[in-house]
Amino acid sequence: MTPEHVDVAVVGSVNIDLVASVTRLPMPGETVRAVAYDQFIGGKGSNQAIAAARLGRRVAFVGLVGDDREGAAVRKTLGGESVDVTYLGSETGVPTGRAIVLVDALAENSIVVVSGANGRLSPRHIQAAAELLRRAAVVVSQLEIRMETVAAAARASAGTFVLNPAPARHLPADLLALVDVLVVNEIEYEAVTGCALPEDHRDIATSLAALGLPGAVVVTLGARGALVWEGVGVTHIAAPIVSVVDTTGAGDTFIGALADALSRGEALLAAAHWAVHAASVSVGALGATTGMPGRAAVLASLGQVPDRTPDAGGRAEEAGTHHG
Ligand code: RIB
Repeated sequence: MTPEHVDVAVVGSVNIDLVASVTRLPMPGETVRAVAYDQFIGGKGSNQAIAAARLGRRVAFVGLVGDDREGAAVRKTLGGESVDVTYLGSETGVPTGRAIVLVDALAENSIVVVSGANGRLSPRHIQAAAELLRRAAVVVSQLEIRMETVAAAARASAGTFVLNPAPARHLPADLLALVDVLVVNEIEYEAVTGCALPEDHRDIATSLAALGLPGAVVVTLGARGALVWEGVGVTHIAAPIVSVVDTTGAGDTFIGALADALSRGEALLAAAHWAVHAASVSVGALGATTGMPGRAAVLASLGQVPDRTPDAGGRAEEAGTHHG
């Protein structure tokens, strides 16, 4: 893939997810027995790249693995998903990132991330990928890498810059000023705004307006769908009712699908509608990327018939959305 042909560039983390299925999550000081154990390729950056690639976008990933067996496995998996890994570096003397994931019988999870090589991704790597980031229609990043690296990626982007501030941290004003679309869950909303997500949509609009953001904000609500704020009112997009096995990676599927739709020229509201349905399909299987859908599955969730043209169709119209 040449840089001219990139729809979505993802700058972020990649981990090996060590997933223990448990009946219930342990209390502090408690040991519980796992009922199953699995390993998957995860990490918010890699998950988001795979989500967009499964939906048919040309995706490139900028990240770092260790010079170890896991790093080689990551490279192979991402390549197998048609994600361009030209800018996936390999760092000696540091392991590939890890995440310890616990999933309980109610599909709730707890995750501990061990940064490893992800923590070494620096503005120098962004500089090397500058041409790619300049040409990508959408650039996506998260906070499992250094904040200065995220800021460098934002500065290097010429297209739409989407930031998912996860794991939740307060964001410096100069970084917020570079974000076109901020995607947060309720915990991240609180870290960014300094207050819990209000019940009333008018209060949400007021607290977001007070931040003086140049861009839009999408709040993901899990089974309750998502909220979209583009400077004025807040629009609620409901999610379909589905059975849930594992929600790990559902937020990443949302962001990958949002990037997919934005890179196809969709308006933010339609893109978020598409992303809500993609995320709702993804929770049906164990592992962050296992249940990530292709276009046909998202269209089926939307009650639409797949278009014969691979790059067309899937236009998420507003039917089924609720305005608050
Ligand atoms: O968002 C889910 C991801 O968070 C997991 O794949 C894990 O690696 C952590 O980064």
